[in-house]
Amino acid sequence: MSDSAAVAVRERVARIVATRRDMPGALLPILHEIQDTVGYVPADALPEIARALNLSRAEVHGVVTFYHHFRDSKPGRHVVQVCRAEACQSVGSEALAAHAERALGCGFHETTADGEFTLEPVYCLGQCACGPAVMIDGRLAGRVTLQRFDALLKACADVTEDQEVQA
Ligand code: FES
Repeated sequence: MSDSAAVAVRERVARIVATRRDMPGALLPILHEIQDTVGYVPADALPEIARALNLSRAEVHGVVTFYHHFRDSKPGRHVVQVCRAEACQSVGSEALAAHAERALGCGFHETTADGEFTLEPVYCLGQCACGPAVMIDGRLAGRVTLQRFDALLKACADVTEDQEVQA
C-alpha cells in the first residue's frame, strides 16, 4: 500500500472511531464500519480503538479474532463467501467449497494471485432453505450448483473487464 493510501486508511479509521466512540457497545459497530469502509480491520487500528474505548489491546484483539467476519488484510476486488454451516452442508456445500477452491486456485481465507477474488467461509447466510448458499460482493445466491458458481464468477470477471474498459 502506498504511503498516501495508508494515510487515507488511518484518517478514515480515526473518523469512524471519533464518531462512534461514545455510543453504548461501540466496539462492534466501530469494527463493522471500519471493515465496510476500508475492506478490513487494519492491525494498527486496534491500539487506537482500544485507547478510545478504554479497553485493553488484548480485549479488542480478542473480539476481532473471535468473529470470522473480520479480515485483517485487504481483500481482493471480489469477495466470494461460501456457506459451510450445517444446512448447506446437508445439500452439498462441501463439494461446492472444494469446487470454489479449484475454480479460484486459492484456499479459504486466501486471495487469488491476481488480486481479483478472496474466498471466505461463512456460517449461515440466512438462506438455509435454499442451500448451498453463496454471497458474492454482498449479493446472495441460493441453490448454487457447480455450474452456477462458475457462471457467477464469470459475471464478476465480466464486471471487472467492463470497469477496466470504461477507465
Ligand atoms: S446454513 Fe447456509 S444459509 Fe444457513
